[in-house]
Amino acid sequence: VLLEPKYKRVIIKLSGEALAGTTSHGIDTPTVQAICSQIKEVFELGVEIAIVVGGGNFWRGRSGEGMDKSTADYMGMLATCINALGLQDVLEEMDVPVRVQTAIEMKQIAEPYIRRKAVRHLEKRRVVIFACGTGNPFFTTDTTAALRAAEIDAEIILLAKSIDAVYDSDPLVNPDAVRYSELSYIDVLNQGLKVMDSTATSLCMDNHIPILVFGLNEPKNILRAIMGEKIGTIIQE
Ligand code: GTP
Repeated sequence: VLLEPKYKRVIIKLSGEALAGTTSHGIDTPTVQAICSQIKEVFELGVEIAIVVGGGNFWRGRSGEGMDKSTADYMGMLATCINALGLQDVLEEMDVPVRVQTAIEMKQIAEPYIRRKAVRHLEKRRVVIFACGTGNPFFTTDTTAALRAAEIDAEIILLAKSIDAVYDSDPLVNPDAVRYSELSYIDVLNQGLKVMDSTATSLCMDNHIPILVFGLNEPKNILRAIMGEKIGTIIQE
């Protein structure tokens, strides 16, 4: 049976850690290849895909403890750029057309983020990777995903995680953790659920952008998410 994808334009948010695989640091090529072949699969269904990537596999805010917060965040933005170039390379190797846009100008490395160009790239059937977060310290890459989703009119944010859904507590620590299949933005904010930071959650709430949280470890999950299967946790009104 040939099914239609549920979404036409999506943001896929990948954490930096997702690219590290079991090595937990840096870029693990087989892991990135596995993720990119999933992306290729949905790209070939005609879905317009923009990717926001984190940088935690190289640098996290907490790596810079005692350091000026803005400086630590700028270092994190550079880390996202390394990941964006890595993803670009692997996708291109798989014959997927792709463009990286950076929120902080570094023209020699990639084109700058220009909203209308990003949309045009998507319309011309290219995957677009957004690097350097929002370009501002104090904003996470989850907030970047929310912001870019609003800017390019993405229908949903696919928040690919190392965990398969949102729980009320860490299921690795608490065997009785409750798993949610649906949540409202307000639930996430009120219960202080650690799925996204509050800036990202409220930006999605204000702009009515649903977020699907799911595990990246299942090999077909990006496809299943795009087809509208009920995996993970959906966060919406
Ligand atoms: P069209 O305008 O639709 O033809 O898009 P295009 O991206 O194919 O054309 P363009 O000539 O803008 O880009 C060609 C290649 O150069 C692409 O791989 C872009 O990502 C890259 N590119 C474009 N602008 C910049 C830039 O400012 N800096 C860097 N480093 N690369 C750029």
